[in-house]
Amino acid sequence: MKKAVIINASPRKNGNSSQISEYIIKKLEGMDITYFNLREMEFTGCIDCGYCSKNRGCVIKDELQNMYSIFDESDITITITPIYFDGTPWKLKAMIDRMQAIYNSKYTLKDSLIDRSKKRRGFAVSIAGGPEYETQFQGNKNVLEFMYKSINTELIEHINVSDTDHVPAYENKKAMAEIDMLIDRIY
Ligand SMILES: Cc1cc2nc3c(=O)[nH]c(=O)nc-3n(C[C@H](O)[C@H](O)[C@H](O)COP(=O)(O)O)c2cc1C
Repeated sequence: MKKAVIINASPRKNGNSSQISEYIIKKLEGMDITYFNLREMEFTGCIDCGYCSKNRGCVIKDELQNMYSIFDESDITITITPIYFDGTPWKLKAMIDRMQAIYNSKYTLKDSLIDRSKKRRGFAVSIAGGPEYETQFQGNKNVLEFMYKSINTELIEHINVSDTDHVPAYENKKAMAEIDMLIDRIY
């Protein structure tokens, strides 16, 4: 059975990202799914203590402790996130910063937390309130590309959804069609 990780980065309970996450989870029926609903999780960001440059893993014992093995065992990672100030909202950024332990395991300790030969794929759905403008998704795109590289997962597509102030993402026909197409591709 394929293993999928769904990351919902919105702090809003029934917002756009939550609706899209639930839609995707339904569509992936039959897969073994880990739902990282960040709003409901308690964890901190990286404190640059240096532990992971000498030891494999992270010294902070919170709800992100098991994410290293979950990403390692995953086949698919799908991230659904709102855009904040053209970038990544803080809780997702905090989670990504904790992936520094993966970076150090690969390049400092040369004992990777992630099996680098395993084939993994995924996509991202980024959701913004304003009408489309040039820089709207850029900061978040850069961060997500680095994140997927760190978990050795091919990021096959970024779906960008603008203007949720007027049209909820769930009612955006073009975006939903893109999501359906990517789910079919990723199965
Ligand atoms: C702190 C904050 C910053 C935001 N920054 C942007 C922005 O830079 N560009 C934009 O188009 N929308 C911005 N928005 C609007 C959100 O991206 C939009 O409401 C999105 O649909 C929220 O997703 P959610 O419903 O999944 O929480 C911002 C919202 C908040 C709360």
